[in-house]
Amino acid sequence: MTSTADGTGLDAVGTDIVGTDDVSLERELDQLLAVERFDPPPDFVSRWYRPADAAAAAADPPAFWAEQARTLLDWDTPFTTVLDDSNPPFYRWFTDGRLNVSANCLDRHVAAGRGDKVAIHWVGEEGERRRVTYSDLLADTQRLANGLKELGVGKGDVVGIFLPMIPEVAVAMLACARIGAVHNVVFGGFAPSAVRERMEVSDAKVLITVDGARRKGRTAPVKEAVDAELGDLKALEHIVVVRSTGIAAPIREGRDVWYHELLERADPVAPPEPLDAEHPLFILYSSGSTAKPKGILHTTGGYLTGATYTHRLVFDLDADSDVYWCSADVGWITGHSYIVYGPLSNGATSVMFEGAPDYPDRDIWWKIIEEFKVTIFYTAPTAIRTCIKWGPQYPGRHDLSSLRLLGTVGEPINPKAWLWYHKVIGGGRCPIVDTWWQTETGAILISPLPGVTSTKPGSATTPLPGIFPALLSEDGQPVTEGTGVLVITKPWPSMLRTLYRDDERYVQTYFSRFGRDVYVVGDAARLDADGYFWIIGRIDDVINVSGHRLSTAEVESAIVSHELVAEAAVVAQSDEQTGQAIVAFVTLTGNQSGDDATIAELREHVATRIGKLARPKRVIWADDLPKTRSGKIMRRLLRDIAEGRELGDVTTLRDPDVVAALAGKVAQAD
Ligand code: PRX
Repeated sequence: MTSTADGTGLDAVGTDIVGTDDVSLERELDQLLAVERFDPPPDFVSRWYRPADAAAAAADPPAFWAEQARTLLDWDTPFTTVLDDSNPPFYRWFTDGRLNVSANCLDRHVAAGRGDKVAIHWVGEEGERRRVTYSDLLADTQRLANGLKELGVGKGDVVGIFLPMIPEVAVAMLACARIGAVHNVVFGGFAPSAVRERMEVSDAKVLITVDGARRKGRTAPVKEAVDAELGDLKALEHIVVVRSTGIAAPIREGRDVWYHELLERADPVAPPEPLDAEHPLFILYSSGSTAKPKGILHTTGGYLTGATYTHRLVFDLDADSDVYWCSADVGWITGHSYIVYGPLSNGATSVMFEGAPDYPDRDIWWKIIEEFKVTIFYTAPTAIRTCIKWGPQYPGRHDLSSLRLLGTVGEPINPKAWLWYHKVIGGGRCPIVDTWWQTETGAILISPLPGVTSTKPGSATTPLPGIFPALLSEDGQPVTEGTGVLVITKPWPSMLRTLYRDDERYVQTYFSRFGRDVYVVGDAARLDADGYFWIIGRIDDVINVSGHRLSTAEVESAIVSHELVAEAAVVAQSDEQTGQAIVAFVTLTGNQSGDDATIAELREHVATRIGKLARPKRVIWADDLPKTRSGKIMRRLLRDIAEGRELGDVTTLRDPDVVAALAGKVAQAD
């Protein structure tokens, strides 16, 4: 598929923060920068927050979570055990309970007479509209569940999903959940070779994909590309193909089946399978410090408790009247928890948009908000910064007065972008929830509560009830004010359970630094005098480009797989638009010197190996790379060079001249 780097279709733009055509807005925002704290609007009263909840959560966290799980979800067999913490860090929640996620997301709403309620207002790229009700979703989910069974998929089998933003992606996820199959969704912007890797390591039995995907008026032949890359995968028995764009798609007799044909012939009734609370629900691959992506595993009861509870509380959801829109892609955790599971479990009405924010024009998001009278909008700081660059005239064309709450996720938001969002999109009246969380946490952990928490632009503020973050110094001492390593000190229901088929890496990555009961997040943060958290960024070799995670090692291994490349080192450089940008230092074989055509070729090579989102923004030719005496590349120095900083300590280098030569070269080129 042809999404751009961040999956939002946002093309890279320059660095001005506020459209210069609007001097008075710029002046106003500058004045607002002096405001450190925004109190909740007096007329915004939280629907769900009770101060007693926070006290109860602090006094007895498992009892608090048990109460949420019981009141928010329907259980086939109620649980009696809340938290099994006998073998940390392998925590288990609600172990003897049984439930089905799809029954909680669909059947219970239909049974309560809300079948005709719109679950998804879908907007296609060419302006198509589809109104998908809860009854519609339930009907398709049941048929697909039976169709998957017909293809031999059973409880615990892995089903890959590689689909664009169409309602079928929700049906595919829910159908897996209905029969206890484990879905493994791959973001549509990834290259087919990345899909292959994720299918191969999880032994996916079936892949659900699409004929083609549209992006800004063009259609990419997805099925054809999938066949070329995955055709010989042994474990992959069948490919289900959604007919979406009508572009020609090769169908291999016996292996491939059209989605609509599978549904047509399937039995319309598929009762939801009651599953153990700890039955795996999905795997989602995310980047870590090595080239091998981590298969983050979430399970049924705890995950759904977290997604449902946080979606209702943080977005102050009124399922009867709100129209909610999260602009993320379903292929990321944000899409799993806050496009599919949270909103559907809560019986909300959502918008799902297939296209890019600048097609057919840069006002398409605001047009959609006006048309559907969206009340809650959730997006990423990088998207806001791009909209700022485009200028306030685009939102200015539309009536955004339906909005009452705004959210952000994925990376720290700079105060000026926060203020622009508040002023231009929120009309100065909508609280902003800056939600901090991760693929691993399953649900939001640190966020303001609208109507309750005073916000400070740039801070995710304070933890939700039942969540216990802390900052530790390098040597493990608690930091009460200042900067430190962010950790979570108590388990919570929606936490990852392990890394798929790699318990050892799970323990090593998250629970080895400060003991087996302290979850190490991978972020550094600052705690201010009011107890507010300010997330600084990653402390591992993970780069955050437009809120999307990539590992330096993953990009390096893609670059060195090019025949011309001898060695490569990848670092992050701060970038006003995308938060961080990828810089690659590359040594070519045989001391060749690179040119612009080689840079283009390398960028393309990375796009084919991982996806466009991983293309380096800058390629710097290096005759040699700075290494320690033991041969380890010193990325810290490369970051200094990329950002034009004074070089740090170079005494441990094998050859200090290398770094001086490189720095001189970069300075000249800049
Ligand atoms: O560094 C933090 C950043 O994104 C990382 C998690 O990335 P991922 O697993 O892809 O999930 C993104 C969507 C939940 C975190 O370790 N991050 C996420 N939200 C915020 C953030 N950084 C600052 N502020 C946030 N609100």
